[in-house]
Amino acid sequence: MSRDHVSHADLVRFADERVNLKRDDAADLRAQANRLRDRLETYLAEHPDFALRKMMLSGSLAKGTALKSISDIDVGCYVSSDSAPDKISDLIDWLAKKLETAFPNFKPEQIKRKTYSVGVNFITTGNEVDIVPILYAGDPQWRGDLVSQDTGEKLMTSVPMHLEFIRKRKTANDKHFAQVVRFVKFWSQLIKQQDENFRFKSFMIELIVAYLADRGLALSDYPSALGKIFAFIANDDFETAITFADYYNPATCAATGAPVRVWDPVNNKNNVSALYTRQNKEKIVEAALDAGDAIDSALRAITKGDTVRYWQKIFGPTFNV
Ligand SMILES: Nc1ncnc2c1ncn2[C@@H]1O[C@H](COP(=O)(O)OP(=O)(O)OP(=O)(O)O)[C@@H](O)[C@H]1O
Ligand SMILES: [Mg+2]
Repeated sequence: MSRDHVSHADLVRFADERVNLKRDDAADLRAQANRLRDRLETYLAEHPDFALRKMMLSGSLAKGTALKSISDIDVGCYVSSDSAPDKISDLIDWLAKKLETAFPNFKPEQIKRKTYSVGVNFITTGNEVDIVPILYAGDPQWRGDLVSQDTGEKLMTSVPMHLEFIRKRKTANDKHFAQVVRFVKFWSQLIKQQDENFRFKSFMIELIVAYLADRGLALSDYPSALGKIFAFIANDDFETAITFADYYNPATCAATGAPVRVWDPVNNKNNVSALYTRQNKEKIVEAALDAGDAIDSALRAITKGDTVRYWQKIFGPTFNV
C-alpha cells in the first residue's frame, strides 16, 4: 500500500522540515513588526495629532500561514484620511516622511518608497517590513481604504476582520487549516519558480481552502485533503464564485465577467482575482489537474520509489521520506 510508503505523518514531517516557517523564526519576525508598532504607539502618546493612527501586522505572519521562504513582513498602517494626500505617489511619500519622523533612529536609506507601499529595512537581520497605507476615518472595526498592492486602487478592507475570518477557519480545523494552506502555497510557489506567467495569490489559496472546509471538506488527512482541493480546482474550472456569508450576503457580490471570482470576505465589491486573465486561470486549472493526477498515482503506486516520485511532482525534488 502506497500510504505505507508516504503517509500523512510523512507529509507532517516534510512540512516541519521544508514548508513551514519555524515557530521561533515567526516569533522573531513578528517581534520586529511589533517593535515598530510599539514605537509608533509611544510616539502617538506624545503627539496625539500625528496622522498615523495604528500599525497592524497583516499577511501570512499574522495569519500563521507563512512559508519558510517568507520574504517580507506585511504591516497595514492606518492613516487619518482627512490629512493624507489623495494621489498615491504623494501618499507614499507622505507616509515615508511620517515614518521618518516617528522612527528617528532609522537611517533615511532604511525607509524606502515603493510604488504602493513603504519598505522599512532592518539592517541587522536584512528583513523588510512592508508598510501598506490604509485610509481611515474612525470605523470601530477598523474598516478603511487599503491601497491595493496590485493596482494602487483604493479598496475597503479591515485587517482585524480578515484576521478574524481566518481565525474562525483555524479554530474549526485546528492546525490543519493553516497546514493545508501552506502545502498549497508551497506547491504554487514551486510552479511560479518554473513559470513566470503562473500566478496564484496566497490570499486566493486561503479563501478557496476556507470555502471547501466550510462545506465539509475534511482537512485532517493531508493526502486526501490535497487530492480533493486539486480535484475541486481542476473540475470546477473556476465556474463557482468563491463567496462567504461572514460579513455580507453573497448574493450582493458585484456582477462581473471576470474569469476568476474569489470575493474578499469583508468587501462584496472586491474580487481578489479581478486581474486574473483566462490564461492565468487555465494555468492554475492545468497545474491542479496535474497535481491531482500525481496524488491519485501516488496513492495507487506499488513501490516506495514510485510513490515518492509522484509526490515530488507536487512538492519538488526536495520531497523525501
Ligand atoms: N486583492 C486583495 N484585496 C484585499 N485584501 C487583500 C488582497 N490581497 C491581499 N490582501 C490582504 O493582504 C493580506 C496578505 O495577502 P497576500 O496574498 O499578499 O499574502 P500573504 O497571506 O502574506 O502570503 P505570503 O506573503 O506568504 O505569500 C491578506 O491576508 C489580505 O488581508
Ligand atoms: Mg505576505
